Amino acid sequence: MEWTREQRYRRLEDITGKEYEDLMESVNSCIYRQKYHIQPKTGLLNDPNGFSYYNGEYHIFYQWFPIGPVHGIKYWYHMVSKDLVHWIDKGIGLSPDTEYESHGVFSGSGFVKDDLLYLFYTGNTRDKDWIRKPYQCLATMDKDGNINKYNKPLIIDSPEGYTDNFRDPNVFEQNGYYYCLIGAENTNNEGRIVYYRSKDLFDWQLMGEVNIPYKGGFMWECPDYFEIDDKGIIMFCSQGQEKSGNEYNNIFPSGYILTDKIDFSNPVVTSDIYNEFDRGFDFYAPQTMKDNKGRRILIGWLGLPGVECVTEKNNWAHCLTLPRELTIKNNRLYQRPISELDNIKCNPITISDTIKGNARFDGFEGDIYYLNCKFTDIIGDKVGIKLRVGDNEETLFYYDILNSELVFDRSNSGIQYAVEYGSVRKCSFNEKDLQLEIFMDSSSVEIFVNDGLEVFTSRIYAKKESCGIEFFAENSANIEATICDIRL
Ligand code: FRU
Repeated sequence: MEWTREQRYRRLEDITGKEYEDLMESVNSCIYRQKYHIQPKTGLLNDPNGFSYYNGEYHIFYQWFPIGPVHGIKYWYHMVSKDLVHWIDKGIGLSPDTEYESHGVFSGSGFVKDDLLYLFYTGNTRDKDWIRKPYQCLATMDKDGNINKYNKPLIIDSPEGYTDNFRDPNVFEQNGYYYCLIGAENTNNEGRIVYYRSKDLFDWQLMGEVNIPYKGGFMWECPDYFEIDDKGIIMFCSQGQEKSGNEYNNIFPSGYILTDKIDFSNPVVTSDIYNEFDRGFDFYAPQTMKDNKGRRILIGWLGLPGVECVTEKNNWAHCLTLPRELTIKNNRLYQRPISELDNIKCNPITISDTIKGNARFDGFEGDIYYLNCKFTDIIGDKVGIKLRVGDNEETLFYYDILNSELVFDRSNSGIQYAVEYGSVRKCSFNEKDLQLEIFMDSSSVEIFVNDGLEVFTSRIYAKKESCGIEFFAENSANIEATICDIRL
């Protein structure tokens, strides 16, 4: 079905209870509903927003269009957790109900100061000629969960030299100042990060652009900056970055530059290498935060803009990724599933064997599980695993040793979509052993490779009965593996 503009800008309050019940019914009958990922109860989810640790709990909001599986007028939907694994539904956090956000409460970040959680976001507006005007806005949340919008926008419109693609404020503190990064497109249609400075979080002064030697794309969405050890990481989604070999094969990439720490009194990035966070098919708009244990944690949208979604006919679309802890080792970024996920793994079965060719093991099957395996003493050209194996279906992941590449192939995974962007993803990889940690949910898979050196995240829509797991080695390898059920 084609969604008209009018339908996309219908607010939740405009639909009848019966209409909403019908929507819920159609969502709940979907066989692809996830079991342990954050997903919308109806409609479309996109970017994570306002990710933060506040008042002893983790908070996440997400971009939400309630009444259909398409992009329309956006709300922030609020979830809270004590452990980043079990989430409590807090309902709508921010509704598009002022003139500064008439066409959606767009993405933004959270910042804790004193007793409040400050929520910075972009108010998206359109006039009758459909001309966009962005506002950067603020709301605060108190310890009782009351959210109050500040009575006027902090930043009105985009500055001289930039288009109306000017959004996704990300706020942090450095040397006694607050800084706000904003994703931008300049009037030459080039992606940029613009930054502002403030002493009090309310009054913001335009400072200029972050000096980034990487140039690519027409619009950079969802910027974020943080430091780990003696490194800085600046991240953004470079819309329009062209495909190059194995890199940037998705419609839009989501990446980061690993740089020397950035001094925002004169912000200069020292590298031009734009690395993708994730090597899979469905990953975008991640956000990070630092928690009370000092961990830097990232969560992303397990989806992409502009790509159809198989669950559309059931009136919902997309989910969030599992949270990942970020570290730096040997000048490379590692992303590991957060350790709290151990608490939902149960009934482990472990095997240890030498395999030649294909091998199946008792108890190794399912559609919802955690699987950890390590291939060592590898001899030959290929080792890997087939997941969700069934009638003419399999999802393939392997180490192609001859070509020094990891390969993820979902061309036989089940229902296909976004095939115009290819059905295989690869990245270079040159390690002695192969270790995988796999989180399988009803319709997604996240594969963490060698302690988080690489991650492949994707939706897959296999038949419910396609539950087989098969290991393979051409010629031989030792393997140790554990599979666990996952129960929230
Ligand atoms: C990224 C994005 C953001 C914007 C939001 C709107 O996916 O386009 O730039 O704020 O989604 O939902």
